This record gives sequence, C-alpha cells and structure tokens, in this order.
Amino acid sequence: MEVENRYVAVRHHVEGSPSVDDFEVKAETVRWTPESGEVLVRNMYVSIDPYQLNRMKRQSASHHSVDVIVPGERIASYGVGEVVASACEEYKEGDVVAGMLAWEEHSVFRPETSMLMSKVDASSGFPLSYQLGALGTSGMTAYGGFYEVCKPKVGETVFVSAASGSVGSLVGQFAKLAGCRVVGCAGTQAKVDLLKDKLGFDDAFNYREEPDLKAALKRHFPDGIDIYFENVGGEMLEAALANMNTYGRVAVCGVIAEYTDPGRRAVPDLLEVIYKRITLRGFFAWDFITKFHEFTAIIGGWIEEGKVHVIEDVSDRLESVPSAFVALYRGQNVGKKLVKLA
Ligand SMILES: NC(=O)c1ccc[n+]([C@@H]2O[C@H](COP(=O)([O-])OP(=O)(O)OC[C@H]3O[C@@H](n4cnc5c(N)ncnc54)[C@H](OP(=O)(O)O)[C@@H]3O)[C@@H](O)[C@H]2O)c1
Repeated sequence: MEVENRYVAVRHHVEGSPSVDDFEVKAETVRWTPESGEVLVRNMYVSIDPYQLNRMKRQSASHHSVDVIVPGERIASYGVGEVVASACEEYKEGDVVAGMLAWEEHSVFRPETSMLMSKVDASSGFPLSYQLGALGTSGMTAYGGFYEVCKPKVGETVFVSAASGSVGSLVGQFAKLAGCRVVGCAGTQAKVDLLKDKLGFDDAFNYREEPDLKAALKRHFPDGIDIYFENVGGEMLEAALANMNTYGRVAVCGVIAEYTDPGRRAVPDLLEVIYKRITLRGFFAWDFITKFHEFTAIIGGWIEEGKVHVIEDVSDRLESVPSAFVALYRGQNVGKKLVKLA
C-alpha cells in the first residue's frame, strides 16, 4: 500500500523565539507492506508542546533525555490516529491509537519500539483529543508533579505559573481538590478571568501587568507560598522563592521563559533555599510512566464528575502546526494546544 504523506520539518536548528519561517511542509510517499511488521496510521490530532523547542536547538540539556530534531526530518510528537493498515495481531484496521506519532498526516510505528502507544477505547465518551492533554502527558505531568513531587497537604498555599495552560490549568484544579488555596498567574485578563470564574482558582493575576513580581506574590500570599508549581522560570522563580515558606516545595516542571531566552535564566537566592529548607525538584513526565493508567483513570473520573474542566485550543490542518507552535511562546494558546488533522 502507498499513501501520500505531508509532514512538518524545521529548516534549520532553532535558537531563541521560533517563527513560522523556521518550518516547512514536505511531501513524500509512504510504502507499507504486510511483511514490514509495522502499523500505518492516519493521524487525527497532534500535540503541540513547549519542550519541542529545546529539541530543535543545536545544544540543550533536554538532549540527554529526548531525541534531537534533525532539520528536514519529521518531528516526533504525541498524536491520536486511526489504524489504516496493520501487520500486527495487536492492532486492527479502524482501531484508534494514541502515542508517539509525528507532525504529519500519516505515521508508521512498530509496536515493540513505540513509546506510550496504546489503543484508545473510543466508546469511553471522552473526546479523542483528551488523549493528548488531560488524559495524556499533560495529565500525567500535572498529576505526578503535583501529588508525587509537591506532596500537598490540606490548607497549604499553592502558586501555579502559566496557570491557564495545559499543565497549569490541571494543577490548579487538582490543588483545589486537595484542599489547598491556589493562586495562578497568566498573561492576559481573559486568562485570569478563566482561572477565577471557570477553573475555581482562589485568585489569579496578570504577570505582564506587575512591575514587581516579588511584591505581587507578597500581595497574593501574605502568609507565604507552601508549594510552587514552576512552568516559567526566570524572574518568576526568583520571585516565588523569595515568598516561599519554610519547608516549601518547588516542582520544576518547565521553564518556558528560558527556552526562548537563556539570558533570562533564574538566579535564585540560594540563601532562601538553605534557611527556609526549600526543596527544589525537577521532574519529567516519564518518571511516572508506570502510573500513567492509574493517574489518567483518576483524572477521567474527576472529568466525568464535573470536578475538573478540560480547556483545549485546537487549530486545523497540518499547515497550521508552525503557527500553533509559535503561539505557545507568545501566550496565544488557552489550555492544551492541538492541531486537528482529520
Ligand atoms: N517536566 C515535564 O515532563 C513536562 C511535561 C509537559 C510540560 N512541561 C512544561 O510545562 C510547562 C507548561 O507546558 P504546557 O504544555 O502546559 O504549555 P502551556 O502552558 O499550555 O503553553 C505555554 C504557556 O506558557 C506561557 N508562556 C510562554 N512564554 C512565556 C514567558 N516568556 N513567560 C511566562 N509565561 C510564558 C504562555 O501563557 P501566559 O499567557 O501565561 O504567558 C503560554 O500559553 C512548559 O514549561 C513545559 O515545558 C514539562
């Protein structure tokens, strides 16, 4: 069988803020045979994730754990798709699968080497797109990072940065379910309203309108921060550390402000860390892979009960992948950024 496939590639390594001109759409013919041992998938949704930018750089600490993106070649990403042809017993034509696919219209995978690939129960009642956000890696990141790394206790105070994003919006809602007081920050008034009015945050602020982040956090946390869920880095981390309580925990999930501008790297006051006995722990979603199904079952139950709202931001067609990706670094997405391909 042969299918025409189009995929998105970077033209060159990307340093600094990405622009749509860094990308190109390429075409190829994909050949699949029953002897190949492979599964051919028509991709329905692909995930747009901030970490991809670090993969596009010539050098990055992320390269220790995730593959480098090679200019001109397809870009692996999480996706959901429908099996078109299969050379494996496990997968049948018409099955819906979720896992590591690519920013392309068709992907082939080998079940024995593919990551996080699983069949999706299409009768679950959840939109398939949730497999890439709340019921996928964002959910695993938010749940593992909050419960396993931050270890919340009832009554504690929680600060979440990039709080209207895919991970942050879940963390804030989990913090409320855990009996914490939660404040989030985001980059527009509309996002701030969403956090307070729909997602149940106790308070929220627009960090772009705060000339002094330390003072803003002091205002929102007069009794200090017990848990900081870090998505941003730079000055936000410095300001949060200055407002942490003794034995505070910082879950370092991401530092998106530093992905585009390494010059903004945080210079935390380590005396704060010492004298307040603060725990600063980085983590990776994959640290919780063995608990993936456990976590997503819990989150799925909360969604069904109306305790957790899922926010998505969906663009259409392969051509929009570059602009969807660029939007992440301009704060133009609200919730999980995805592209619907079919
Ligand atoms: N450790 C892991 O395994 C893991 C897994 C998934 C994600 N992450 C990290 O978690 C963070 C959130 O990821 P996500 O997928 O949920 O993305 P997201 O929050 O849905 O989208 C990114 C958001 O970051 C904010 N942002 C962008 N540039 C910024 C800047 N210079 N300063 C402050 N805020 C900025 C923007 O919102 P505003 O309007 O608020 O500016 C933007 O909407 C990222 O740092 C990501 O790398 C880590």
